Amino acid sequence: MSGPTESSDTPTAAPEAKAAAVNTMFTAIAPRYDLLNHLLSFGVDLWWRKVGTEALGPLGPGQTALDLACGTGDFALQIARVNREANVVGADFVEPMVEIARHKGAAAGLAHRVRFEQGDAMGLRYADASFDGITCAFGVRNFGDLQKGLAEMARVITPGSRMVILEFTTPTNRLFGALYRFYFTKVLPFLGGLLSGRRSAYEYLPDSVYKFPDPPAFIRMLEEAGLTEVTFRPLTFGICGLYAGTRA
Ligand SMILES: C[S@@+](CC[C@H](N)C(=O)[O-])C[C@H]1O[C@@H](n2cnc3c(N)ncnc32)[C@H](O)[C@@H]1O
Repeated sequence: MSGPTESSDTPTAAPEAKAAAVNTMFTAIAPRYDLLNHLLSFGVDLWWRKVGTEALGPLGPGQTALDLACGTGDFALQIARVNREANVVGADFVEPMVEIARHKGAAAGLAHRVRFEQGDAMGLRYADASFDGITCAFGVRNFGDLQKGLAEMARVITPGSRMVILEFTTPTNRLFGALYRFYFTKVLPFLGGLLSGRRSAYEYLPDSVYKFPDPPAFIRMLEEAGLTEVTFRPLTFGICGLYAGTRA
């Protein structure tokens, strides 16, 4: 596993410094983000978002979901495709990511139901209970203050609404885990660096995954944020985890 990188543009532990570094990093890789995402995950990330959409459950006519840390919009658009009469708001604090998401929403003919805007998970500008469901794919790991971000996510959904989080996890099978670790800490930073010109971003990825709370600890954090019936489902040999719960 790669150790923490020391460069000044790499996210560090302090909340504000981490947020600033994460923002700079995603601003830099935004133009190549989609290509690298699908390439380095062999396209399986698209399936993960489909499973996440199922876990969110159906949204009725006029209902609205928030996809936080929406990046280039794939999860928000997937939710809108499946829930044909619902609305989706995608929010992310990196404007170049949001801009790409807007273009994709328009190209998909979904701009009338999917709105993309800038927003920071550390202080969402939405009123309490504004949404009927909330999702976040591969975003929470990047929050400056994880528990604060989860509390914000719970705050903006109505009681009884679903919260669905996709996040990288560490495979538990020893052999597969060792192979994956080699890919994740050696091959991926090399290829990611080559294609994006920002190797530090693809060193940060495995480093942040190995530092992230394990599933039982993260489930406790979700419960602390106000969720009940929290479930965890490992996907693709446990390299990704699907967390879902209901707002009490
Ligand atoms: C790995 S990307 C995931 C993007 C998208 N959800 C996906 O599935 O491809 C992480 C995203 O989290 C966003 N992010 C990180 N911290 C954030 C915060 N505090 N508020 C809003 N967005 C944040 C980044 O800008 C980036 O777009």
